[in-house]
Amino acid sequence: MRRLQNLLFTFCIALRCVTSAVGVIHVTGNVGSAVNVSCSYDQGYESYEKYLCKNDCGSNDDVLITTSNPVTSKYRIHDDKTARIFTTSISDLRSVDTGKYWCGVTRTGKDIYTEVELKLVKDHCCDTVTKILNYQGYSESISCPYEHQYQNSLKYICRGNRPSTCLQQALITSDNKENGRFRLDDDKMLKKFTVNITSLSQEDSGYYLCGVRRNFAHNVFSAVLLEVEEFCCVKSTKINGTVGHPLTLQCPYPSQHRDNRKFLCKGDQHNSCTDMLKNQSRFTLQDASSSTFIVIISKLEAADAGTYWCGSDSQWRVGNYTKIQLSALYVIPPVLLLICILVLVYKYRHSRIEEAVLSLQRNASRKKSSKKVIGAAQSEIYKNQGVVTSNDQSTSNVYEEVDVEVHYENLTASE
Ligand SMILES: *[C@@H]1O[C@H](CO)[C@@H](O)[C@H](O)[C@H]1NC(C)=O
Ligand SMILES: *[C@@H]1O[C@H](CO)[C@@H](O)[C@H](O)[C@H]1NC(C)=O
Ligand SMILES: *[C@@H]1O[C@H](CO)[C@@H](O)[C@H](O)[C@H]1NC(C)=O
Ligand SMILES: *[C@@H]1O[C@H](CO)[C@@H](O)[C@H](O)[C@H]1NC(C)=O
Repeated sequence: MRRLQNLLFTFCIALRCVTSAVGVIHVTGNVGSAVNVSCSYDQGYESYEKYLCKNDCGSNDDVLITTSNPVTSKYRIHDDKTARIFTTSISDLRSVDTGKYWCGVTRTGKDIYTEVELKLVKDHCCDTVTKILNYQGYSESISCPYEHQYQNSLKYICRGNRPSTCLQQALITSDNKENGRFRLDDDKMLKKFTVNITSLSQEDSGYYLCGVRRNFAHNVFSAVLLEVEEFCCVKSTKINGTVGHPLTLQCPYPSQHRDNRKFLCKGDQHNSCTDMLKNQSRFTLQDASSSTFIVIISKLEAADAGTYWCGSDSQWRVGNYTKIQLSALYVIPPVLLLICILVLVYKYRHSRIEEAVLSLQRNASRKKSSKKVIGAAQSEIYKNQGVVTSNDQSTSNVYEEVDVEVHYENLTASE
């Protein structure tokens, strides 16, 4: 009878295990944030100890937190006895936290287990990011397009690129269209909402997420990277150009100056510089983007070197301009370099032969035994020629033979 009881008990446990295996709780968390794991239990177990464990739950090391000691730095457990649900919070999620967990209820005999599977997703958005450049003190209008089915959904924008906390930390939503420097306008016809940020400062630089709330599904996001640059002071750049080649000068300007006349002038002082776009056909201006124009110098001249100023504000207000210091460098073409080297080599050889012959002349006049010396001179000259011949047969050889003959004649004449 006792054996039968035992058998039944084991069977019940087995059944319990089977049921819990079927009812695996799937939990998804975001890297770096927290997640709640909630497990329910049957009536009658309210006063029992609850816990969360990992892996096989075989050893005490596998138990992460119990209701007997409910708070640690990473885990926190709370037992809602009325609802008969105990919830474990796991904070600061890392990839090592993924995997299989068990919710456990301590009791005599085998504990009750519910299987939990924790998955992590990366909490950042998005694969494509729209980059916007603007300047201190100006305003920017961030455009957030959406699909037509979301016309009546809640729209919002937040800083950073973490979708999980975006709505919670929204700067502004379509329910609350104005908030300090931010204003949201939803244009349902054009299927986009725009967020206007006024009085930009460099602290406004960074990621923004445009969000659309969907019921029963993940919200949709698009990402914007806003860069707010200082535009109060002279920006200074140094450029090296090559004489004879084209050169491109870049000038940033605030997008508000889109329709202003852009200028490039040359001179040490910006207030007494010569306009280079009025009179110089080699200088052409092009709009490169909504915030940069370029000036192409078709063929750089040495005289183009100097200080240039470019900008978009004819009033020269607090330096809405860029200073460019241009150096015009010569680059010696390789062919010219080769000719230079050949000339030098020739000159060197020439002087050595001359030296040799001159010393021979001196020897000849001193020793008065010219025949022997001439023989030596010849062999010396041929030795030199031998070297030259192996290097460069066609050019230097001819000259040297002429040299030799001239000196030879000199020698005979002196005899
Ligand atoms: C987890 O539950 C606690 C208590 O109910 C709640 O304050 C917290 O926001 C929850 N955390 C997450 C990530 O859902
Ligand atoms: C933003 O709003 C302000 C105030 O309504 C307006 O003056 C400014 O032109 C707007 N900026 C953009 C970029 O639309
Ligand atoms: C320009 O050339 C000078 C040397 O002639 C060099 O020192 C300098 O680094 C160069 N500048 C740039 C921006 O290339
Ligand atoms: C433009 O060129 C003309 C003739 O080449 C010259 O008379 C005039 O002074 C120049 N203007 C400027 C602004 O340099």
